[in-house]
Amino acid sequence: MKMLKEYLKEKKEIIEKTIDTYLGEFNYPVQIAEGMRYAVLNGGKRIRPVLVLMTLDLLGKDEKLGLPSGSALEMIHSYSLVHDDLPALDNDDYRRGKLTTHKKFGEAEGILIGDALLTHAFNILTEKNEGLISDKKIVEIVKLTSSYAGINGMIGGQMVDIESEGKKVDMDTLKYIHKNKTGKLLRLPIEMGCIIGDASKEIRIKLEEYADLIGLAFQIKDDILDIEGDFEKLGKPIGSDAELEKSTYPALIGLEESKKLLDEIVEKAKTIIIENFSEERGKILIELADFIGKRDN
Ligand code: IPE
Ligand code: IPE
Ligand code: MG
Ligand code: MG
Ligand code: MG
Repeated sequence: MKMLKEYLKEKKEIIEKTIDTYLGEFNYPVQIAEGMRYAVLNGGKRIRPVLVLMTLDLLGKDEKLGLPSGSALEMIHSYSLVHDDLPALDNDDYRRGKLTTHKKFGEAEGILIGDALLTHAFNILTEKNEGLISDKKIVEIVKLTSSYAGINGMIGGQMVDIESEGKKVDMDTLKYIHKNKTGKLLRLPIEMGCIIGDASKEIRIKLEEYADLIGLAFQIKDDILDIEGDFEKLGKPIGSDAELEKSTYPALIGLEESKKLLDEIVEKAKTIIIENFSEERGKILIELADFIGKRDN
């Protein structure tokens, strides 16, 4: 998987440089300015912004057009992690190999740092995209982002995740949780890329199908890693789900069945790309699907 590894490294650098510039604009109040940087620029995999650039690559468009949107999305994702780790939610002390934001800066600060990241993401989507992509595309992206980050997406999923602690929920509820808490923010970058890169309706439908599958695979793998991952590699605690009696795939169908299902979903995602894109263009998306199934961090 050398090709993907290099690709991820190269894109990660461009994205982190962009976010670093955007967040370098602030210095006061110091806890918020420092906290925003701490929460975002701390070693995440950057899968979501990389997906925006990958989609543009696939469509043969300039990846620079996706940098503001990808960076804004990474800020929203990072905010979701800051709030997910709060004592009232998952109550975790480590994230990306360092103390969680609220542990480092305090709980009230953690809440506000998360709020600041979410809000500022919309400033970036509008201000930094102005003149780069059309106003019509900006409106479409803002509309989609506000929907997928909110009640019809990540927040909806997080709410049902929290209220399902200590319960044995049915498969439909579990599917709702995964589709929304994780799936929507992984579908969003591909849709952003399709909007920016003028994808045809047919191509967009295929890419959305792929996005939904890798989104589900991503969270099933996250649930598996919470059981048998390595803290050093993962940078976040193992066993957090069991402690909180979370509703996860392993909890509902067992660890071995979850692994089998994960493999099937990854294969399905790869098939969509193989059947709809040339080997040359589709290669990286196929490797990404494999990476999601095999990742150890
Ligand atoms: C973690 O996401 C939270 C989930 C939605 C499973 P990532 O695994 O993408 O976390 P980072 O950004 O690399 O830290
Ligand atoms: C959280 O899922 C997904 C978010 C919306 C942040 P988890 O609670 O399983 O994520 P981790 O394992 O803490 O990264
Ligand atoms: Mg959680
Ligand atoms: Mg968590
Ligand atoms: Mg988890």
